[in-house]
Amino acid sequence: LARGVREPDLAGRHVVVSAGGTREPLDPVRFLGNRSSGKQGYALARTAAARGARVTLVAANTTGLPDPAGVDVVPVGTAVQLREAVLKAAADADAVVMAAAVADFRPAVYATGKIKKKDGQEPEPIVLVRNPDILAEISADRARPGQVIVGFAAETDDVLANGRAKLARKGCDLLVVNEVGERKTFGSEENEAVVLGADGSETPVPHGPKEALADIVWDLAAARLG
Ligand code: CTP
Ligand code: CA
Repeated sequence: LARGVREPDLAGRHVVVSAGGTREPLDPVRFLGNRSSGKQGYALARTAAARGARVTLVAANTTGLPDPAGVDVVPVGTAVQLREAVLKAAADADAVVMAAAVADFRPAVYATGKIKKKDGQEPEPIVLVRNPDILAEISADRARPGQVIVGFAAETDDVLANGRAKLARKGCDLLVVNEVGERKTFGSEENEAVVLGADGSETPVPHGPKEALADIVWDLAAARLG
């Protein structure tokens, strides 16, 4: 095979990838968001399609990224919407990769009208409530026996210990752990990670293009598919 052309080892498989970052609205013009670019999730979708998979890409606020060819893109805004779309697509999926940055909290109330300043008054504090943990939910309650579930985590400090604890807490099969640091900024074209397996495996991924990490994730997921 030519360089960059993969065996269609995911042919006949349906995979679901979530990408981007959720936005939790405060009012019609404002939201709480995060800096996830969606590039790693899009690289996962492109590489899975290149390997023959049918791909559903649940894309949270990724305007600006081109829809990957041959991929079914489902746009969403909030964590609650992302959960609905992932659960629906996961029903017949062989693998689910949660690359999206899901907001842990959302504003407890949504103001249907724009929030206004009031003369001489300090602003009201923003009260938050927990969002559902989608990765933990789909891992605990698999839509299909043998479905492979992959999470992502950005960690600081004791990166591997934090990653191991998170993998156990989430109950997924693989967790891609990124160290958040100086040159590892959000929006970058490259990534560096360690992929932890529930089976105790540890796969270091050297600094490189997001496609290279995506291919390693699919190698590890494919090895776990029935
Ligand atoms: N995730 C999810 N639903 C959430 C939060 C996170 O499905 N409400 C998924 C993310 O898509 C990612 C993984 O869980 O694949 C890890 O996200 P992370 O934010 O690192 O995990 P948390 O449990 O939220 O831990 P922390 O308190 O460190 O943010
Ligand atoms: Ca979180």
